[in-house]
Amino acid sequence: MKNCLLVLLLATCAQAATSPSSLIANVPGRTTVSLNGAWHAIVDPYDNGGGSGFFRDEKPRSNSDRIEYSFDLSPVLNVPGDWNTQREQLMFYEGPVWYRRQFIYHKRPNTRVFVYFGAANYTSTVYLNGEKLGDHEGGFTAFNFEATSTLRDGDNFLVVEVNNTRRADGVPALRTDWWNYGGITRDVTLIELPAAFIQDYWVQLAHGSQNEVAGWVQLDGAQSAQQVTIEIPEAHIRESVTTDAAGQANFHFPARLDLWSPEHPKLYDVTVSSGSDIVHDQIGFRTIQVQGANILLNGKPVFLRGVSMHEEAPFREGRAFSPEDAQTLLGWVKELGCNFVRLAHYPHNENEIRLADRIGLLVWSEIPVYWDIDWQNAATLANAQAQLRDEFARDHNRAAVILWSIANETPVKPERVQFLKQLAQEARELDSTRLVTSAMDRVDQTSVDVRTLSDPLGEVLDVLGLNEYLGWYWGRPEDADRMQWKSAWNKPIIVSEFGGGAPFGLHGDADQRWTEEYQDRLFQHQLGMIQRIPNLAGMAPWVLMDFRSPARMLPGIQDYHNRKGLISNRGQRKLAFYTLQKFYKKKMMEAGK
Ligand code: GCU
Repeated sequence: MKNCLLVLLLATCAQAATSPSSLIANVPGRTTVSLNGAWHAIVDPYDNGGGSGFFRDEKPRSNSDRIEYSFDLSPVLNVPGDWNTQREQLMFYEGPVWYRRQFIYHKRPNTRVFVYFGAANYTSTVYLNGEKLGDHEGGFTAFNFEATSTLRDGDNFLVVEVNNTRRADGVPALRTDWWNYGGITRDVTLIELPAAFIQDYWVQLAHGSQNEVAGWVQLDGAQSAQQVTIEIPEAHIRESVTTDAAGQANFHFPARLDLWSPEHPKLYDVTVSSGSDIVHDQIGFRTIQVQGANILLNGKPVFLRGVSMHEEAPFREGRAFSPEDAQTLLGWVKELGCNFVRLAHYPHNENEIRLADRIGLLVWSEIPVYWDIDWQNAATLANAQAQLRDEFARDHNRAAVILWSIANETPVKPERVQFLKQLAQEARELDSTRLVTSAMDRVDQTSVDVRTLSDPLGEVLDVLGLNEYLGWYWGRPEDADRMQWKSAWNKPIIVSEFGGGAPFGLHGDADQRWTEEYQDRLFQHQLGMIQRIPNLAGMAPWVLMDFRSPARMLPGIQDYHNRKGLISNRGQRKLAFYTLQKFYKKKMMEAGK
């Protein structure tokens, strides 16, 4: 008895680190004012706006006054939305754009207000009524600034400079195989909160337990110890704890809960309240662990039937952001027979994550440490760590998210392993309840038909991601029939990418590259091979849907699109879509699902 209490305490302490960033949790469950809509925008290719004081939104005060910019006279851009697909001349634009949003706000007593951005690519500087609120770097994570003292009662104007210029020390760096969509790409919201409010909370099963809930609550603005109550009415749970001087309270209590799984995506209404603040959320409870070469979901081995996808909008293209986009994309994932989706190569929008929670899809979430970056630059490491913390801060209560991926296809060199070791450590300090992985593509050619996954990074991962393009970038599809795979570790392997390109509707011989028949033949050989990979725990072929890429320039075939989709960007299913669907249906039958 004493020992298990000790174990529990240790687990709780390990899980109870304070919330990493000042990100306000669960914005969908808060009182908010949307600032979405048409924003006037000035495209500023030579970045003159700062020096010219665009953030003051000045107007000529006399006929002779010389003001050489005007938001009022400038065309609008929709927010949320990338600018590239809103105006043809901005499709290839990389640089600063200044956005302005005017709004009327009536201040209320004892109310604090924050401006919350779902994401803006790549760097953002935010001004309110001419005053700077703050900066943010990273195109795919949320950020918020307090605006209480800067807000006016009545007319207000928010100016945001967004700059998607690629940087060698950035995350990602200069080269990606996805379009560098710029702009305010997700919702902008004003959040109204009491003077002391619930900034963040974590309500999950304790590490390794199926009947103990553990977690923490972090208050902001509490002047003294304050009572916090966690309620899960359906499970007859009502627990109260008291915060310490820093506004932090940890808790753990026994609970009999219906566990969340893809087949049974059970979400509970959970309420966290303290003082005059109350937050409502829908949370699923499940455990995820590794045991030898198996991934265990709720204590049972699970095979991850997945697909990889970009956050590219179906049909209209551009950055996806809406609940409808998520519904279409994840609907296709489900139609394939998947219980798993790899969201590549950056944290996707919250609509997708929350939908995965509701419809039952296990999620691989990734930060854009992609290909080669500035490994020895401390600022680049700090940037990557901040993106990891912000990704965790937004999604740590989502049962669907099981894997934190710290990188994709990075070169094997000491400074890279050192960098990623620190990221892996950060991920574990943040979250002892999920698994750390990375997609790796460097394998040893042990002999003609044998490849060994032995990237030194594997040492620090819980789950090994393997990207292999046999039949496309190397070898022929049929070579897969003889290929043997080995691994230097007794750890679960997810084949995180394989595939080939084919524009929808291009038909021909199965050995003619770019035809649907070639892509389909590649899949058939791959699916045979993959089942023979040792320690195989799942797969996520590349890729659900064709997506825009600056690296794909073959006219009439690619036209700046990566055509490895199983579905075209017009929603047309290719032959390989049905081959994979059939394979997953068979897998489900075998697993008795
Ligand atoms: C890589 C990479 C993807 C890319 C894909 C491809 O493996 O991770 O981002 O799109 O291969 O070449 O199509």
